[in-house]
Amino acid sequence: MDWCGVVSGRVEDKFAGAGLSPAPALKVGCPIVLECPLNIECRVRHSLSLGSHTMFVAEVLAVQVSSVLLDARGRLCLEKAGLLAFAHGGYFALGRRIGHFGFSVRKRKGRR
Ligand SMILES: Cc1cc2nc3c(=O)[nH]c(=O)nc-3n(C[C@H](O)[C@H](O)[C@H](O)COP(=O)(O)O)c2cc1C
Repeated sequence: MDWCGVVSGRVEDKFAGAGLSPAPALKVGCPIVLECPLNIECRVRHSLSLGSHTMFVAEVLAVQVSSVLLDARGRLCLEKAGLLAFAHGGYFALGRRIGHFGFSVRKRKGRR
């Protein structure tokens, strides 16, 4: 992941260099990464020039997900992907789940 993010496809074949395989996408012209358990195909809807960077707003057209990331009911369990965080130039492993969305406003059982 790091190597693919610091080398440009203009100078290197990133599929060959990283040992990855291109595979056909469902909706877009560029390939998906076969070894990646989650591929999200998008179309750019807006681009906003911010000076140092351009921010793109994209519409999701298709999602291809490996069964290894699904539970018995077919729900996506992204935590099975071995998530990490990137901050201040470092990569950090994520730990245990510490809460869920909206927990701070959910009523406790037995309280009125
Ligand atoms: C951990 C990591 C995070 C990155 N995040 C961004 C990002 O948020 N926005 C961005 O424009 N480039 C980001 N990059 C740089 C792009 O990945 C890089 O410019 C791109 O892969 C260059 O390849 P290309 O010329 O084939 O597009 C990141 C790179 C790494 C390694």
